[in-house]
Amino acid sequence: MSVEHEIANLLHETRRFEPSKEFIETAVARPRLYEKAKEDRLEFWADQGRKLHWHKPFTQILDWSNAPFAKWFHDGELNVSYNCLDRHVEAGWGKRIALFFEGEPGDSKVYTYLDLLIEVKKAANLLIKLGVQPGDRVAIYMPMIPEAVIAMQAVARVGAVHSVVFGGFSADSLASRIQDAEAKVVITADGGYRKGKASALKPAVDEALADNRCPSVEKVLVVKRTGGEVSWVKDRDLWWEEELNLVDREHEAQGFNAEHPLFILYTSGTTGKPKGILHTTGGYLTQASYTHKNVFDLHEGQDVYWCTADIGWITGHTYVAYGPMANGATQVIYEGTPDTPDWGRWWDIVQKYHVNILYTAPTAIRSFMKIGRSVTTHYDLSSIRVLGSVGEPINPEAWMWYREVIGSNKAPIVDTWWQTETGAIMISPLPGVTATKPGSAQVALPGVEIKILDDDGAPVGNGHGGLLTITEPWPSMLRGIWGDPERYKETYWSKFDGKYFAGDGAKFDEDGDIWLLGRVDDVMNVSGHRLSTAEIESALVSHPFVAEAAVVGAKDETTGQAVVAFVILKRSSEAEVGSDLDTSKVLRDHVAKEIGPIAKPRTIFVVAELPKTRSGKIMRRLLRDVAEDRPIGDVTTLADTSVMDTITGRISAGA
Ligand code: PRX
Repeated sequence: MSVEHEIANLLHETRRFEPSKEFIETAVARPRLYEKAKEDRLEFWADQGRKLHWHKPFTQILDWSNAPFAKWFHDGELNVSYNCLDRHVEAGWGKRIALFFEGEPGDSKVYTYLDLLIEVKKAANLLIKLGVQPGDRVAIYMPMIPEAVIAMQAVARVGAVHSVVFGGFSADSLASRIQDAEAKVVITADGGYRKGKASALKPAVDEALADNRCPSVEKVLVVKRTGGEVSWVKDRDLWWEEELNLVDREHEAQGFNAEHPLFILYTSGTTGKPKGILHTTGGYLTQASYTHKNVFDLHEGQDVYWCTADIGWITGHTYVAYGPMANGATQVIYEGTPDTPDWGRWWDIVQKYHVNILYTAPTAIRSFMKIGRSVTTHYDLSSIRVLGSVGEPINPEAWMWYREVIGSNKAPIVDTWWQTETGAIMISPLPGVTATKPGSAQVALPGVEIKILDDDGAPVGNGHGGLLTITEPWPSMLRGIWGDPERYKETYWSKFDGKYFAGDGAKFDEDGDIWLLGRVDDVMNVSGHRLSTAEIESALVSHPFVAEAAVVGAKDETTGQAVVAFVILKRSSEAEVGSDLDTSKVLRDHVAKEIGPIAKPRTIFVVAELPKTRSGKIMRRLLRDVAEDRPIGDVTTLADTSVMDTITGRISAGA
């Protein structure tokens, strides 16, 4: 049974956890937020927007005249970095800790808001010295170290546009993202620490830029993290630290229009080519800070907050680099993996920094569950007050474990639904307001309008499921797909006229609470990361051995879904590759090289044929049945109904 089905079966969940009296008394969020947003939604958002510092205050809230291209607060001007740093220092909070950095080998570093501001100003001056102008793109390919956040803030400060590429992506993935955005500068590091050893990053940048593959790139800034050997391209490569010592320490942040672009973040869609999701400044920062404060019940100056996401994903943008900083929060960032040197590492960090708010993904929780309750035995987790979950549906069992073992049966859990495209949280309980329910993301946040529609576009009522849509524009919504406005309209706005289609299935339970049921398109969710079946298929067929490939997401106990591939080999290569085991290894490594290790199929089945309809469409539903070891469903629409017998026969024979 898939996680989605499990959840569907658990819709009769009856457990409820009311907020405690003490929590209600001190909670940031109040029930009247919902009322205010209902009374006047746009004015509600304007109120949130006014909490930021505007170089020039806005008088307009929303311009939707060119829908689906929204403009929020579009006659206002602000500087994102000023909002995240300068204004806190000017308010007298310069000594407040902004970042506790914990390196994987055990080194640590503390930055106050003033420290960060000094670093970001220098980095901004460096970018300007290198010729970076407002609107230019800068690619960031970094481990999870403070310089990654400093780099993002500096790019934002000068009005340039960052495109952060997850450090686990391959040189090819990096190259295609740099090319698409035509980045002028790349900021990287010699490497980072992962699983107990130094892992190099710079070679991937060198490979991505080799043979003039990315002619837009003029300079590469390299942060020294591991001290490992790096090859150097004269006149192109520069050491970050050395260059920072040469520039002025003062930099005055200038206001940019609220619709000035802030970043592009590539995410997988249903085609082979990742989409560059574009976000702008005013609306994005408004919703990032509003949600961060209310959903996590942030008491700035008191709480220590830790989001475990890498800056390579949207969660690391909104809930590490921007939301917490805009709110003057104190946060932890950790470089490495949860199991280094052992599975106690995260809990050691919680204890060491007295983490109050923890935000992570269900896949991590399920990994800890596998180890067992003893994983936290030696650690004091009593500081934890609020727990967050993101990235994939959280099954009630994992939810309860999270509550009992990590949250000492008292910390409210906020299951937050959102996407790269939505920019910030859209559906979530509010701690201190909402009684929580294991497995349900529950309700749209104040200011957000959600409807679940059936295939014909009619809203479904309580107890029914359908497709999740957002029916009104929201401040942190994507402003488009980089360089492809048509694809933006087609992907999100064409299925239901005037409504944003998220690509997720969802259901209202009898109380009207929302349950997310997973993707309804060809996007997989592996460990909370979005992967496209088409992208992995095209990586597989780019290998000389492979004639045809089909990829499906199959249920996996820990990672939610796992990538399972079915490949047909070219006749000439069958003899060359030897056993299926060898073939699997060769092809899995090939996918890692093409896309990155996160996209490696868990299992590869070599088959003689693929099940197709008469019009030639691959029937993934049937392949999913095979991958999940279930009886095969209805095969009557296949062009050749015997194909499934051939596939299952071959697989069970271990061929
Ligand atoms: O399917 C939903 C799932 O993750 C998708 C968005 O992926 P991405 O853009 O990479 O952003 C992940 C972090 C925000 C969604 O379409 N998803 C995200 N959060 C949840 C979720 N599914 C169920 N419950 C959630 N809380």
